[in-house]
Amino acid sequence: MTEKPFITRIVPEEFRLDGADSLSITTVKDMASIFLSKSIAATMQDRIVYRVTKRNVPLESGELLQCITEILPGDCDGELFMTKGHGHSNSACAEIYLGISGRGLVLLQRGNEFQAIELEKYKSVYIPGGWNHRTVNVSSEAPLVFYSIWPAQSGYDYDAIFRNPFSKRVFKDGSSYKLVGVQ
Ligand code: 6PG
Ligand code: NI
Repeated sequence: MTEKPFITRIVPEEFRLDGADSLSITTVKDMASIFLSKSIAATMQDRIVYRVTKRNVPLESGELLQCITEILPGDCDGELFMTKGHGHSNSACAEIYLGISGRGLVLLQRGNEFQAIELEKYKSVYIPGGWNHRTVNVSSEAPLVFYSIWPAQSGYDYDAIFRNPFSKRVFKDGSSYKLVGVQ
């Protein structure tokens, strides 16, 4: 149990959470099985796609985890940079995303239900339990930065996105984006 109150601070200009105790960096190589174009992904292995600064707490009932995700601008053969996406092994657990800067899309999949919700500064998206989620940076210029908070007992299920793939992918479309159905 967390005994003492503590603070963290969102540092928008540095796209990070001050007071975080972990940093994870995900490259195209780490997402080789996720981008549609495997051949193009193979040519840009070391490109950083996103960073996560997270503050951990005991993974006990009632505790809450928090982090900042920064998705860099970029694309893999037109498919816009995104997070891997996942479900939570404890499907009773919901999650909240709060936009900090940039523009994005939160892709949500539950069974054959699909939703894509725009994410921007000061807008929050409530992700109910049972919905797999992936976030896409729809800007080719600026990073997408968002704050997440979720129950410490959520657990992760990264295979969920292979068992039940997101119905749509997001591609550049001039200076905008388009959602493309996945066969
Ligand atoms: C979570 C949140 C969020 C997410 C990151 C990275 O459950 O922790 O959904 O913090 O983990 O945005 O995305 P991936 O976990 O899909 O790599
Ligand atoms: Ni999550």
